[in-house]
Amino acid sequence: MCGIVGYVGNNAVKDVLLEGLQRLEYRGYDSSGMAFVGAHQTQVYRACGKLDNLRKILENAHTESSFQGIGHIRWATHGAATESNAHPHRSTDGKISLVHNGIIENYQALKEELQAQGFCFQSQTDTETAVYLIEREYQKYQSLEKAVIAAVQYLKGAFAFCIMHQDEPDKIIAVRKNAPLVIGLGKNGNMVASDIPALIGFVDRIVYLQDNEFAVLHQKDVSFYDFDGHSLLKSPEPLALEAEQISKGHYAHYMLKEIHEQPDILRRLLSFYMPDGQNICLNGIDAKKMLRNIEQIEIVACGTSYNAGLAAKNVIEKLTDIPVRVEAASEYIYQKQLTNAQTLVLGISQSGETADTITALKQARLKNAQILVLTNREDSSIVQCADAILPLKAGIEVSVAATKSYTAQLVVLYLFAFKLAEVLGVANAETNYLKHALFELPVQMEQVLSAEKALEEVSALYASYSDFVFIGRGISYAGVLEGALKLKEISYINANAYMAGELKHGPIALIDENMPCVAILIKNSSTFDKIISNCEEIKARHGKLIGLVSDETYQNKLFDNLIRIPNVCEELSPLLTAPVLQLLAYHIALKLGREVDKPRNLAKSVTVE
Ligand code: F6R
Repeated sequence: MCGIVGYVGNNAVKDVLLEGLQRLEYRGYDSSGMAFVGAHQTQVYRACGKLDNLRKILENAHTESSFQGIGHIRWATHGAATESNAHPHRSTDGKISLVHNGIIENYQALKEELQAQGFCFQSQTDTETAVYLIEREYQKYQSLEKAVIAAVQYLKGAFAFCIMHQDEPDKIIAVRKNAPLVIGLGKNGNMVASDIPALIGFVDRIVYLQDNEFAVLHQKDVSFYDFDGHSLLKSPEPLALEAEQISKGHYAHYMLKEIHEQPDILRRLLSFYMPDGQNICLNGIDAKKMLRNIEQIEIVACGTSYNAGLAAKNVIEKLTDIPVRVEAASEYIYQKQLTNAQTLVLGISQSGETADTITALKQARLKNAQILVLTNREDSSIVQCADAILPLKAGIEVSVAATKSYTAQLVVLYLFAFKLAEVLGVANAETNYLKHALFELPVQMEQVLSAEKALEEVSALYASYSDFVFIGRGISYAGVLEGALKLKEISYINANAYMAGELKHGPIALIDENMPCVAILIKNSSTFDKIISNCEEIKARHGKLIGLVSDETYQNKLFDNLIRIPNVCEELSPLLTAPVLQLLAYHIALKLGREVDKPRNLAKSVTVE
């Protein structure tokens, strides 16, 4: 959470930073700010709320004489989203400016120490301690590098910083510990950012900074050091991404574009993991060696990634008889862990930066578990916790609400389950059937997406309701959890998912004519008739019923709105119900005038525990 960017070069600094921050807005949008070092002064601009507010302020700012600047986009942790808490923060003499992503855990003790030494704090942030520490050390060393090296020794927690000093022009120091930072090298200057999208189009080569390292960026070169000041040799790699890959194209929102990308991502995954259409190759992993002796699987993940894990549990257990426990990473960390050397831990994270998931995997490592990570970002921090990686190949997901990464996770988890069954020698006709049925899903998904107009009409009927209930059983329970999450996070409607059979044990008390209920019913599933009965119970209490039904022969006498999905087996059905529920959530949020791509209070990379 929070995004930082820095640029030193001969392009218009303000424009580069604004573009960079815009592409990092998925990391937070509580406030933003920039600092520019010019010939005689450092100018700082800060604004609460979305980046557009800063953009307006900067229209009247004269930054033309500045060749270096740093910027920040904030997701508030310590201190409210006020201007005084916005970054950059400055030293008391105004010469040092600093932006920060992360949390300084020992900031309270440091603050007291610095206050006793006469530093006067202007904000409630943890970040301000870092800038004063550097100022204090600068007074001793008169060198920004030396002051930074001395200051970081005092800091505990997670930090990525960009730092400038008025008296040391043509220099930005970028520091990393437990928070991502990537350095970009270009013909017109050098750059640093929390994430790659900010660098696209400005630089042509990149270097990932590792923990306990810092980089010194000048207009013409960049040098790298560890926290002891030893020089490091780094080999830059080409930056292959084009600006088009992070544009919205002709879509109104990233979310809509990403929903529609899903069939092609499925195809990409199938040809990546099953190049000959028969044999599953898990990204070069020696599957026999890794999987043959496992006795249990633990899946740790958060949010949408957790929901994908829950769906996968149904399939893995069914096909392999290996017990699977699915834990929210934030809970796993604090529970008694039954993890051992015969446990395979699957960490799932789109961003690869989710702090809870990373911490959970580090704990699992201490128990000698094998760790397999599914991530959409092979360059992310989570990779360091893994014995092996299964890439999601979904392309950069910009919208804060996860869509295409969810279905990509499902596909990779299915393939993993099939492979595990094969390695364990328990693959049967059903495994084979599912493996081949997966190839029909991209076209079926396209069918689902082509019915968007009808879904938009259904959405219009329900946008004014303030509460929703979602019900499903078995794997569809995982599906409705995800559907309810999508709806609540982008529309702010209170949406709750229940196991349909549990409804009469309490939640049915919620049902009346003001309660729309979304139910998933999959033909030939063992619970089809049971869910119909659950829906009858809702109807009897005047609830409004929206049914996602995969049975083309089903004669509707029950549902207020019936959404037909193509015939699909129960195990693979989340791949078809997900796009329907994503589109419902999208169109309801749109009708309510919500900021679909940037819902309030959220950030895409949750880098704090
Ligand atoms: C919901 C959403 C979040 C994330 C969660 C985990 O749409 O995006 O619930 O799924 O924060 O993020 P990753 O997968 O990056 O670890």
